[in-house]
Amino acid sequence: MKVLVIGAGAVSSKINLFLQEWGHEVQAQLPTLSARLLSAFDAGPLVVVEPEAAAGLEAVREAVTAGWVPVVVGTPGGALTAWAQGSGAAVFPYPPTEADLQSLRDTLARLGEGGRPAEEIFRRTVLGGDVAARAMAGIAVRRIAVTSPKGGTGKTTLAVNLATLLALCGYPVYLSDLDANGGSVFYHLRMHQGGAPRGTLIGLLRRGIRPTNRDALSNLAGGAMILSAFSEIQELPTLHVLPGVFAEEVGDPELSRKEEPGQDPYPEVRMLYGAAEAAGGLSVADVGINPAHPLHRAALREAAAIAVVIKPEVPDLAQVRAWIHRMIRALAASGLSEREAAALVGSQVKVVYNMVVGDSFKSAHNLLNQALQEDGLGFRLAPHGVIPYVDPRLADAAVNSDRRTDILIWRWKKERPEELAPFAEALIGFAAHFVPGIREAAAAAGLLPSEPRRRGIPLLRR
Ligand SMILES: Nc1ncnc2c1ncn2[C@@H]1O[C@H](COP(=O)(O)OP(=O)(O)O)[C@@H](O)[C@H]1O
Ligand SMILES: [Mg+2]
Repeated sequence: MKVLVIGAGAVSSKINLFLQEWGHEVQAQLPTLSARLLSAFDAGPLVVVEPEAAAGLEAVREAVTAGWVPVVVGTPGGALTAWAQGSGAAVFPYPPTEADLQSLRDTLARLGEGGRPAEEIFRRTVLGGDVAARAMAGIAVRRIAVTSPKGGTGKTTLAVNLATLLALCGYPVYLSDLDANGGSVFYHLRMHQGGAPRGTLIGLLRRGIRPTNRDALSNLAGGAMILSAFSEIQELPTLHVLPGVFAEEVGDPELSRKEEPGQDPYPEVRMLYGAAEAAGGLSVADVGINPAHPLHRAALREAAAIAVVIKPEVPDLAQVRAWIHRMIRALAASGLSEREAAALVGSQVKVVYNMVVGDSFKSAHNLLNQALQEDGLGFRLAPHGVIPYVDPRLADAAVNSDRRTDILIWRWKKERPEELAPFAEALIGFAAHFVPGIREAAAAAGLLPSEPRRRGIPLLRR
């Protein structure tokens, strides 16, 4: 595991040597902790030997929000040691005994695998303990599918930004690319820059994981296998991503599984949603535009909310209307009556207007509802999100630069460019439909446009 040791004394050096002897790669041993220094290394476990280090609380908190996982070696009176205990970070006594060193070594090996401890420290550091607990209790919708009637409306942009927003706010997010026509989540998140991803959609489908009707434990094992295909995003331990179909995989036989009557050809999708939920998290799925594809249909049918991303343009509305009918027919084909399917669509579909300029979307939206009325569908759609058109230079960097932190909402958090304030506000408003508690979490995480960025230290402020 790639570790960084902060501390300049004899104990720090002893820890450094001990870890190397046991196969950990110590990237460096530094006397001082600063954000600038850290940016030169790959984020990972950060061992701070408090009595021998120049490392303030604020520097450690910043490190955590950049994806570092702190481990403190200190004495009970130390400020960092007290903070670490309150944040769920591992703490070892100073000076450590031989047994402490061994346990430190094992802790680092576990942290290297990512997972819950890293997420929990991140969440509690970003939000503070109380807000973190309330935030986790305030998730209303845990299965979100994002789709659209045609390409280029910003479906992937919205899915990626929604997932990143929630993860930056401390929520455990499982973002999956379920676009059978070829996905781009992998590129939006610059996953090509790291090593190979842990798994991909096709890889997962090839394993043929099935729910069993034996017992809860074997189903749990299937769910765990599915979650293990998600990769972690280095600087954001709360974001887990399953990359989708690569261009050369579009014709893969796994994408055209036979449909037997009464059988779900893609039970993995239901298992995936269930496993993310069981892990305390929520799923955001980027679902391809054709609702009749059995993979997409599974992703839509099992979702608790379907965000339909459209541009408020009249030609698009005709497509939306046709698409809603296709979706109702597709769902009806999988065993529901037309009425049930229509009711399901009416309650689940959350229209999101994207690339909105001014308020012309209102007349477009009225036209859409009129059309649905004429079709006798018996429901009206409310716009759940109105996402503004973003400065093209920022939109371009969000997908084309070599920094994943240029993803619009992430960039907003890091640099707070004024041009992104309306976008951030709109995205948070949209996310609040699924996670009502998000405003408090977003405020604590420094993401609310209307409030100045928080500077204090949560433990000291309380
Ligand atoms: N709100 C927005 N403002 C400006 N450009 C946007 C916005 N949303 C998406 N885009 C741009 O539109 C293009 C298509 O977006 P993408 O998310 O790939 O669409 P889809 O997945 O629906 O095909 C991308 O270049 C993206 O940067
Ligand atoms: Mg896309």
